[in-house]
Amino acid sequence: MAALRIAQDELGWLSTELMDFVANYLCMAPVAVYEVASFYNMYEMHPVGKYKITVCTNLSCTLMGAEGIAEHMKKKLGIDFGETTGDGRFTLKEGECMGACGEGPLFLVNNKRMCGSLSPEKVDQILAELE
Ligand code: FES
Repeated sequence: MAALRIAQDELGWLSTELMDFVANYLCMAPVAVYEVASFYNMYEMHPVGKYKITVCTNLSCTLMGAEGIAEHMKKKLGIDFGETTGDGRFTLKEGECMGACGEGPLFLVNNKRMCGSLSPEKVDQILAELE
């Protein structure tokens, strides 16, 4: 998993060639690497935008307003979940519980930066920082 994370950080996503390289480097069967990469939400099997924003839509965050945050972001970016903006800057994803339910609603930027206690105003501020 760590090797896949490092590989994804380099390219932004995991191409078949990159997963084959990881499998070869670790002396593993390529299918074992594909299985891990396709199971976990943080790995991308297709190109994504410079900033991948994963919004938690599980129960606790939903109760804290995640649906409204997601709708605000979709409208602001002009994309739906699973899509990338035309300029390639933002990809919006729907995510599972990130283990920080008390900070909901929240999202994760590029699997690294967690932004919690979101409001539409705070979302706008974060997106402006990223632009
Ligand atoms: S439900 Fe969103 S972090 Fe747990």
